[in-house]
Parts: sequence; structure tokens; C-alpha cells
Amino acid sequence: MSFDFENVPERRGTDSQKWQKYAGRDVLPMWVADMDFPAAPAIVAALHARVDHGIFGYARPVPSTVGAIVEAMATRYGWGIEPDWIVWLPGLVVGLNVTAQAFAAPEEEVLTLAPVYPPFMSAPKNSARISTPVDFVLQAGRWTIDWAALERAVTPRTKLFYLCNPHNPLARVWRRDELVRLGEFCVRHNLVLCSDEIHCDLILDPALPHIPTARLGGEIARRTVTLMAPSKTYNVPGLGTSFAIIPDPQLRARFTRAAAGIVAEVTALGFTACEAAYRDCEPWRQALLAHLRGNRDFLTDFVTRELPGVTIEAPIEATYLGWLNVAALNLADPVAHFEKHGVGLSDGAFFGSPKGRHVRINFGCPRATLAEALQRMKTAVAAR
Ligand SMILES: Cc1ncc(COP(=O)(O)O)c(C=O)c1O
Repeated sequence: MSFDFENVPERRGTDSQKWQKYAGRDVLPMWVADMDFPAAPAIVAALHARVDHGIFGYARPVPSTVGAIVEAMATRYGWGIEPDWIVWLPGLVVGLNVTAQAFAAPEEEVLTLAPVYPPFMSAPKNSARISTPVDFVLQAGRWTIDWAALERAVTPRTKLFYLCNPHNPLARVWRRDELVRLGEFCVRHNLVLCSDEIHCDLILDPALPHIPTARLGGEIARRTVTLMAPSKTYNVPGLGTSFAIIPDPQLRARFTRAAAGIVAEVTALGFTACEAAYRDCEPWRQALLAHLRGNRDFLTDFVTRELPGVTIEAPIEATYLGWLNVAALNLADPVAHFEKHGVGLSDGAFFGSPKGRHVRINFGCPRATLAEALQRMKTAVAAR
């Protein structure tokens, strides 16, 4: 079966947050991590069948939904999980906030590596915890962890470490030795390790496996809260369906207690989409990855050839997000400049990069949209 990632429905005038931002303006939205493709046909069919049932009461997952996740973890990652390790959540950002409240007290610290998806830094602050971002360093064309800086950042008040695996916005897949070293770091400092793996099914380089942090086992698994969702891979973020996988019963109890009464339940439609995604959509996912690889190569080539002053500093190994260094353009506000020329990007400053240095582009769209956006960026670069 072939899938069409080029001819997609119009999203202007719909409920799309991504497209509403520029309503009435000729700006192509290449910002929030939401792709412009319909969900896989198997998901749409499952939702149709569920809607036809016509009753939408409070929902609980049925065994086949949990089974689809357990099976996916085993076949994709060789990770054997138990059904009762799963805690359902309406979103991963919710999971980050719950984790901060569960495992750090007010005024205690949450370490992370920056630049990073902004809620990694804002979630602790939402509940008076302290976020401590440690900057990545670029070494030989690869974003790497500054281990010495990480050690220096630990204080007696540090309780939690947020890892983005694979990493948004650096599009980096973590290697086993790096994960082991991070895990051992958390064990040594007695930190709970929260591993956000929302992008794990979007690895573009077939030679790189995704290694769930908790798959490392032993003491590392016992202190790890893994956050996952079908939302990014299968483009169903608007259905609000995610889950934590927490092997350790005490850690799980603390997490569940912190969430009690304030975290909404997953909906009937969310469970339905989740089951279909993990069970029935592997051919679609493979086709999507082929399309995204093509877009990634197109983007990389175009930036190198046609956008002087813009660089992609390290290979895009995963996600549909490109991290562009635009410092050489000397723009006070690169996002405003590109918007003026019809392209809506994410500001690197939101991710913890110095203002004016980076922008993030979302290439989860038809090739024609990406090509048009890049042509507009070329005009913008020339018009400085
Ligand atoms: C690393 C990461 N975590 C979480 C999210 C958002 O998750 P949710 O919409 O489930 O809150 C995103 C969205 O871009 C993300 O990139």
C-alpha cells in the first residue's frame, strides 16, 4: 500500500494551532511540532468505527490497547514492559510537570541539557522548583554533553534530571555509551531520571537504534520515568493521549499521587487512536520515515547551497525538526525577519539558545511546502 504525503488537506481556516497563528497572512507555518499530514488510514478507520458506536462515556483502556503498547516496546526496542507499569496521561508536558512535583520539593533543582524543548525548563518553575540547564557543546560536528559542566551543576538540592531522547531541537539520537554514562551520573547523584521519548519512533538514520533509557535495566531502570506518546509519530497530538512507563512501584506510586485529581483522563477516542497507531500503522510509519528522510536531505542540501550565512551544524538523525544556525546573518530578530518574508519559524531563544543565533524549522510537510518555504528563506537571506 502506498501513502500520499504530498497531497494534503487544506488546514487554513481549521482548528489548527499551527496555521491559526498566521491566519489572514501569507506566512507558511513551519514552527510547532505538528505535521501537515492526515493520520494513518488505520487510525482514521478505527476512529470512524469508535464514533459509530455513539457512546462516549468515561473511558478506560481495554487489554488490546495496553497490549499494543507492550508489543510495540518488545518488537521495536527489545524492551519487556509489564502492563501495570503504564500510567496514562493527557500529554507529555503534563508528565514533565507531574514529575517535577512528584520528585522535587519547592526550591529543589531539576537538571537538563540545553537547548531543549521549552517545557523542560518551564515545568519546574510552574511549581516553584528550579530549572538548571547545562549547555551542550558542539564538538567535531556533533552536539555533545559537557560532562564536567554537568558535574559542576549538581548541588545537594538537585533531585531530578530531564532527558530528551531523541533530542528536540538538536535532532540527536543518544548512543548507548552516552545513555549509560547519563544513567550512572543519575545513580551517583541519586537523581530520578525522566526520559521524554516522544520522538523515539522518528529516527531517520536506519543505522541508529532508539534505546529506551530504562532498557539499560538495573539501578538505572529503577529510577527512570519514561514518557511516550503516539502523538508526534502518527500526527495525533490533538487527541491528547500519552503515557508514562514506570517500572519501579514506589516511583510509580509517587508519580500517581502527584497526578491525582489534577490530571485529566485520556478520552475514548484517544485510546482508540493509540491502539491503532501502535498495532496497525507500521507500513505507514515506514513510508513517513522515507518521506521525512527525503525532506531532511532536501533541506540540508538547500541550506548548504542556497542559504549563505545559515548552517546546520550537526546531522539531523531524528525528528522532523531542523536546528539552523543563523548567527552569521546578524539579525536582531531572525524569526521576525523570516516572517516578513513569509516563513514562520520557531525562535531558538525559546529553547535556551542566545537570541539571534538559532531558529528551528519543522519539515513535517509536503515537499512542495518545504521547497516554497526555503525559496522564501532564500529571498529573506538576500534581502538583509
Ligand atoms: C520533546 C517533547 N516533549 C513533549 C512534547 C509535547 O507533548 P504533549 O503535546 O503530549 O504535551 C513535544 C512537542 O513538541 C516535544 O517535542
